[in-house]
Amino acid sequence: QTASPARRSISTAPKGPYFCFDIDGVLKQGSHVLPQAKAVLQILSGNNPLKRRYPFLCVTNGGGSLESERCKKLTKELEVEIGEHQIVQSHTVFRSLVPQYADKPVLVVGGIEDRCRRVAEAYGFKHAYIPADVLAWKPAVWPYHKLTEHEWTYVKHADFSSVSFAAILVFHDSRDWGRDVQLVLDLVRAKDGVFGTSKNPKDPSQWTPGRQIPVHFSNPDLLWGNEFSQPRFGQGALQESMAAVYKLTTGHELHRTTGGKPTNATYTYAAHLLSSQIAHLTSGTPINLHPTSSSAPSLPGRVYMIGDNPASDIAGANAFGWESILVKTGVFRGEKREDAEHVPTVVAEDVWEGVKWALEREG
Ligand code: G3P
Ligand code: MG
Repeated sequence: QTASPARRSISTAPKGPYFCFDIDGVLKQGSHVLPQAKAVLQILSGNNPLKRRYPFLCVTNGGGSLESERCKKLTKELEVEIGEHQIVQSHTVFRSLVPQYADKPVLVVGGIEDRCRRVAEAYGFKHAYIPADVLAWKPAVWPYHKLTEHEWTYVKHADFSSVSFAAILVFHDSRDWGRDVQLVLDLVRAKDGVFGTSKNPKDPSQWTPGRQIPVHFSNPDLLWGNEFSQPRFGQGALQESMAAVYKLTTGHELHRTTGGKPTNATYTYAAHLLSSQIAHLTSGTPINLHPTSSSAPSLPGRVYMIGDNPASDIAGANAFGWESILVKTGVFRGEKREDAEHVPTVVAEDVWEGVKWALEREG
């Protein structure tokens, strides 16, 4: 699959700079699109005196829909063409788990309605179940929510007393933390991943990490920024809630993996998409939409990561060797670089000031 052919009248900056934008707290605040974001992306797309285009990506710990759907929504919101090859979401790297779980039952947690199930199935997970399916099987598993008429239209029916789950994948932010903490921990302490069963509390060999059903979170965000005056709890807070209740109820540590920013896997994936975009724009090479290499490509110029969250955007960029620009429109509420737990290359008021600084710095 290749992206739409590049417009010929605009040249591409062969040596960059290239840009990687976080979304929540940088380009958008909740549903509000920052006007600075539209202006900046217009300039980077070639609407500038040099008629020069600067390759860019959006890399978010958000998600909940297919990349092909999200980029269409972003194109409309930001009023600039964003292709599928220009977006990395929290769960994008879950594609790498498909070979391991394609034909096995997995519990997909998070997001709105059954959208994340549909994303999982589009990735290649053939037996993706969601928490609402479990409530349809036995409403008493979580007695505080009665399935609505609409929920009954999308639940998948199964007798979960005979389903042995292979893994739990937290694709996106949970919309019912209580239910999801209950169901995830039901499975983690179950015998062989079957709801309604339990490991033998007296047999330590059943509680070793290798015997625990894997729990894969798609990002570690304790906080994230929207239009509210203070940052909101993200998937990292859900992880800690689950781990705390698991420790209290079993005495054991919850073993889990985490993707998204600031992990190297997500930045490597982003770097490959950027490399593919640069090659396509400069020499027409077809875009590789689903890079699988785990080693980082070298890029012909500097990359600037623009984010609002020191713990994910700045930490990840710094560790990956990219320049990092911390903006004040999201999680970070400090004034200067040293106020951030992960010190950025520079602090900027917003995405416009950040890009302007980078372009002036690169000359
Ligand atoms: O769920 C959204 C949040 O965790 C962070 O989104 O775009 O700031 O990485 P973003
Ligand atoms: Mg953000």
